Amino acid sequence: MYALKMITVQVLLLSSGPCSAREPYFRSVPTTVKTSENDTVLLPCYVNDLGYNAVRWWWENQLVADSSNPGLVSSPRIKMLPNNTLQVSDLQAEDTGEYKCQIIRPEPWGPIQQVHAIEVLYPPSVTPIPEEGLLEVQLGEEVVMGCSASGVPHPIVTWSNEGEEMQLLDNRPILRFQAHTRHLAGLYQCIAINGVGSPATATIQLRILFPPEIEVERPWVHAAPGIRSELVCNVLADPDAKVIWLKNDVPVITSTRVVELSTKNKYTLLLRTVHPLDFGYFKCRAMNELGVNEKIIQLSGVANPAIFKNESGVPSETNYTLIWEVDSYSSIIEYNLLFQRYSPHTKGHEWTKLIIPADSSSPGPIHSKSYTLTGLSIATVYEAMILSRNRFGWSKPSAILRFGTEGADFGYDEHVLPTETKSEDNIIRAELAAILRQTNLGTSSQASFIFTMLFLIFRLWV
Ligand SMILES: *[C@@H]1O[C@H](CO)[C@@H](O)[C@H](O)[C@H]1NC(C)=O
Ligand SMILES: *[C@@H]1O[C@H](CO)[C@@H](O)[C@H](O)[C@H]1NC(C)=O
Ligand SMILES: *[C@@H]1O[C@H](CO)[C@@H](O)[C@H](O)[C@H]1NC(C)=O
Ligand SMILES: *[C@@H]1O[C@H](CO)[C@@H](O)[C@H](O)[C@H]1NC(C)=O
Repeated sequence: MYALKMITVQVLLLSSGPCSAREPYFRSVPTTVKTSENDTVLLPCYVNDLGYNAVRWWWENQLVADSSNPGLVSSPRIKMLPNNTLQVSDLQAEDTGEYKCQIIRPEPWGPIQQVHAIEVLYPPSVTPIPEEGLLEVQLGEEVVMGCSASGVPHPIVTWSNEGEEMQLLDNRPILRFQAHTRHLAGLYQCIAINGVGSPATATIQLRILFPPEIEVERPWVHAAPGIRSELVCNVLADPDAKVIWLKNDVPVITSTRVVELSTKNKYTLLLRTVHPLDFGYFKCRAMNELGVNEKIIQLSGVANPAIFKNESGVPSETNYTLIWEVDSYSSIIEYNLLFQRYSPHTKGHEWTKLIIPADSSSPGPIHSKSYTLTGLSIATVYEAMILSRNRFGWSKPSAILRFGTEGADFGYDEHVLPTETKSEDNIIRAELAAILRQTNLGTSSQASFIFTMLFLIFRLWV
């Protein structure tokens, strides 16, 4: 019985509601107007005829126009037209927001309303942080730079460094990173884009202050008394470094003969004529507010390491002719030729040393020499290196030359040979050679014994 009563009440309510023919509805549709500054916008508010009492316009809950109160003027730029359209002219940034049209109906009906929106678009603009566009940090410090972007809609900010786009995971207005290397210094640019007008950019010059870094192209300089010689240190520092030259830790005394020169980052100690007492260790020392650094350059009379010429020998079955050149201002007294059978698998070195007198007639500074190794094994790969002695002592060893007697299998493309092996391996070998030089061939394996015998036989023959 109770349920039946409920239904009756509902039916009564429906029939007592407004007649469906008079049900009000908006003929205009809600709109969002996106437009630029200074424009005029018309927001419609058309309802099917229902004999309303008043039309009111609200902007963000503030009454801006009321047909029942024509005296209401909220802003000289806002006005309700006779057909209830709201006209907002000379648009300003603050006009952005929701506009609500409200129709006040006779009692007992409540108001009906429709909401529009205006978005006043502004092209992006951007100011760098720091504002001067210049940021200075010390090496290792944290870098915080940014770009404060404005515009409607709010722009997204992307970054580039020295013209290269930075691949960041997000579009962030603030960059924060550690200046762990001076290479991070340079020009940073942020680009703000919001789809209105042209993108806006701002630049920030990042300066990273760092202690001096020194690069020495030639840590070992060959010279001879009477010749001109230059010792060069390339110094990078910010702020600029003060560079001094030292010999045996005492500042070099400059004169007309010994001159300090500098251009940009290049610092040169020029010895117009080398004196025998000049040989030894020089140092360039660079300092700025952030630190001190120094590098050693040795001025030496010993010869430059020999260089094998790759026209070295037409391979024959058991002979091989090595040709090398040595750059030495002082004449070469003798050479040491170290050679051994090459094997990629054995670690030990069993160098055989040959003492080869130099041609006393060579005027220099380039001294060429050739030497034919005989009695070598057939189709075998060998390695060789050269040391040269002039009146100042023994040179550093040459790079190692790998060569083969006729038909030798190098284990890789023959056209890359003869090769000068480089890098650490070579340094280790060179050190080893130096030790060998001192111990005068302490090895006593059969192979080296045979080579030594061959050598002795050869010497007897010549
Ligand atoms: C709007 O008018 C102001 C004042 O005349 C002017 O400075 C501004 O550039 C104008 N804006 C646009 C988008 O034209
Ligand atoms: C309302 O009036 C304005 C100004 O007279 C006019 O521009 C607009 O088209 C009118 N709207 C309609 C739907 O008549
Ligand atoms: C010597 O070797 C170098 C580098 O491998 C090559 O460029 C040059 O042509 C060679 N010279 C001769 C004479 O084979
Ligand atoms: C190798 O050198 C020896 C001694 O100089 C010479 O007698 C011999 O003919 C040479 N052999 C070849 C194949 O060139």
